[in-house]
Amino acid sequence: MPLAHSAASLTLMAHTHHAHTHGHPHGTPGHDQPDAGSMATLLDLDAAVTGHYLDDVADRIEGLSPRPARIIDLGSGTGTGTLALARRFPTAEVVALDNSTDLLERVAAAASRDGIADRVRTVTADLDSALPAEVCDVDVAWASSTMHHFADPGALLSSTFAAMRPGGVLAVVEIDELPTFLPAGTAEGEVERRLRATANARHWNAHPDWSSTIAAAGFDLVDTADIVTHIDNPPGTSRDYAAFWIGRARDGLADEIPDDDRAVLDRLLGDGPTSLAARDDLVVQARRVAWLARRPA
Ligand SMILES: C[S@@+](CC[C@H](N)C(=O)[O-])C[C@H]1O[C@@H](n2cnc3c(N)ncnc32)[C@H](O)[C@@H]1O
Repeated sequence: MPLAHSAASLTLMAHTHHAHTHGHPHGTPGHDQPDAGSMATLLDLDAAVTGHYLDDVADRIEGLSPRPARIIDLGSGTGTGTLALARRFPTAEVVALDNSTDLLERVAAAASRDGIADRVRTVTADLDSALPAEVCDVDVAWASSTMHHFADPGALLSSTFAAMRPGGVLAVVEIDELPTFLPAGTAEGEVERRLRATANARHWNAHPDWSSTIAAAGFDLVDTADIVTHIDNPPGTSRDYAAFWIGRARDGLADEIPDDDRAVLDRLLGDGPTSLAARDDLVVQARRVAWLARRPA
């Protein structure tokens, strides 16, 4: 289980909106930031296991904007959304924006591997309060698991609105329920659910309902979608994702986990007969929420 005890913390889950209202944690030395390699692993595992949401949201975007010419991905990470949208809209240029050059290099490499480097552009940018001025004529703006990271999401959405063509579509996605991997009703499943409750109580991955921020930026909200993940018999990568998530939560919440629960988590993360690696009963459950909005024509 090589991923389980990575020292870096689970930023996807650990960054909170609350934290951002009291400071500016991005890139702060010593802050709970994983290195880019850990972040990339996490994002790629998340996409490999729960990536069906990409098709779901892309369907909804396509219904509103069938042939976008320019798409932007706000906080692209490794390019999960960038690449999914580039595949879905084969004539679109997709611009991946992030403040991590390392992650953007991964986007560019993935685009080359997919043979779409000519349509995928990467831009290093701090999106805390605005888009870079040169970004314009946008037909679709995508922000998945990122909006709660930005210091001033309202200002960023206002500048996104200004950069969009009339009729352009905004899609904001957040993880609404952190993932679980063990079946409910089992002892391990109950431990995992307590772990998630502890993470929720610590505001891991907390995000507001973005509806009013989206509307205040000038957009018309057209749809809010609950996207449920429930995968019985998930692919093998789910074990790696489970180990990554459970290991990081175990380490990040160490002080708040009862000893009995920690012992169960350690067994899951170990290599014995009750470890994640040995189990064939994993069930991946999670939930995302997506807000779809348009700039009025
Ligand atoms: C949880 S990841 C989500 C990545 C991707 N959208 C996905 O769904 O896989 C958050 C991303 O936002 C980026 N990010 C965080 N703060 C940022 C900022 N102020 N400016 C630009 N990017 C930022 C991080 O580097 C990271 O790639």
